[in-house]
Amino acid sequence: MMDVPNRNALYVPPFPRRTAGPVPVWRGFFGERARTAVYGWSQRAFELDYFKRNVFGHNVHIPLHPDLVQHVLLDNAANYVKPDLVKKLLVPTIGRGLLSSDGPLWREQRRIVAANFAPAAVDTLVPAFAGAASAAAEGWDRGGVRDMAAEATATTMRVISDTLFAGDPRLTTDAAMAHITAALEGVSEARLQVLLGLPLIPLSLRGLAGRRGQRFLRSTLTAVVRDRLPDGGPDDFLGKLIRALNERFEPREALALAVDNAATFYLAGHETTANAVTWALFLLSEQAELQEQTAQEARKAIAVGSQDPELPDRLPLLRRLLEESLRLYPPVPRFDRQAVEADRIGESEVAPGDFISIWPWLIHRHCKLWDEPDAFDPDRFAAGRVERHRFQYLPFGGGPRLCVGARFAMAEALTVLAHWLARWRFQPVPGREVRPSGMVTLRPAGGLPLRISPVSSG
Ligand code: HEM
Repeated sequence: MMDVPNRNALYVPPFPRRTAGPVPVWRGFFGERARTAVYGWSQRAFELDYFKRNVFGHNVHIPLHPDLVQHVLLDNAANYVKPDLVKKLLVPTIGRGLLSSDGPLWREQRRIVAANFAPAAVDTLVPAFAGAASAAAEGWDRGGVRDMAAEATATTMRVISDTLFAGDPRLTTDAAMAHITAALEGVSEARLQVLLGLPLIPLSLRGLAGRRGQRFLRSTLTAVVRDRLPDGGPDDFLGKLIRALNERFEPREALALAVDNAATFYLAGHETTANAVTWALFLLSEQAELQEQTAQEARKAIAVGSQDPELPDRLPLLRRLLEESLRLYPPVPRFDRQAVEADRIGESEVAPGDFISIWPWLIHRHCKLWDEPDAFDPDRFAAGRVERHRFQYLPFGGGPRLCVGARFAMAEALTVLAHWLARWRFQPVPGREVRPSGMVTLRPAGGLPLRISPVSSG
């Protein structure tokens, strides 16, 4: 970790040390850099418009200027698909669901699920978000030190289960939570094997736990889907999904895609949002005065109506804070594409098969795009502030593959945070360092223990 001068008294939360010179590619496969995507960057990576690397014979383009990012994600999006290597890594867990498919299959699936995530549909879910937040806090008794990362994960897992899978209890057990964490951690090991073209055989205890997690997830969700056959059951996300797939695909394919999408939405829908809530709580725990202001805003908003669809809209300060938190600690710090045909990204030639890595972590802290990029300043997101390029802030990606759950995630995170802040105070545990960790999603290493106390106790 590195201390940065605190100019203009803005708070600078911790971020990994940057080297002065370039970092060799092989470093990416050893030590902390192999476990955490945001480690081992040089300062140059936060200053250039574009750079290129060669990783085991693969060209990897890293566009950082928002115009170049827009070219890949929007203007020529049809030429940039999900990489085969990423699919190989993800298919055992999420199959050919929305996140890991391309072309007509992706388009068809996106059309099927889109209505569930339209603003009006998300609005109806606010009571479920509020209910899960309150249920979690009921177990906190009079406070003490709690791992708020685990609390956030249990809460968002419950939200996904309640809102998309009619509250199926098989999806919210402690075992389910442990298996999913293991499955995500197993991906960093598998990543090296996939890059080297090796078979996906677990090589370590972590890899084995990952494989067990993956199998648990697939078998549990297959059982959940099978129990809904033949007609899909209740008219919720899963029921609608099963019925729509049955209409468009033959039965075996429809069943496979239903399980793939159940796994996709279960995973993509809770881990990221849990990290967003966790980082926001971390930033608030470090800034008592700001926490008090957001808590007051939350109490007022909840007094008007604790579960009504407009609750997230009555939290402008908390929203700015969450947006800034998603800038500084994007839960998805990088995502990738692969070129179908030859193209140019700015001045650089792209060959068919080349990889393009989009790095919210680098773009969100880029020196040319932000004033004091590493400093926490929620007012960057205040109405009327300097116009931003829409591809310089990408916590939810961009273009046609923009996160389908973005509105769901924002409404959920705001509702959960408001309910918790209104009644609880969160303080850091002295002497404990918080550092980002994770290859696929970004979370605090070892969780986020915070000292919590009920607001009424003063
Ligand atoms: C703060 C929370 C979240 C963050 C930061 C996040 C981030 C992202 C990003 C960056 C992408 C684009 C990846 C790419 O282009 O390769 C994405 C896609 C996706 N997200 Fe999210 N997400 C969040 C919450 C959710 C939620 C709540 C759901 C569902 C309930 C969800 C479901 C998906 C799906 C299915 C895709 C694939 C969309 C497609 O390819 O058409 N996400 N997300």
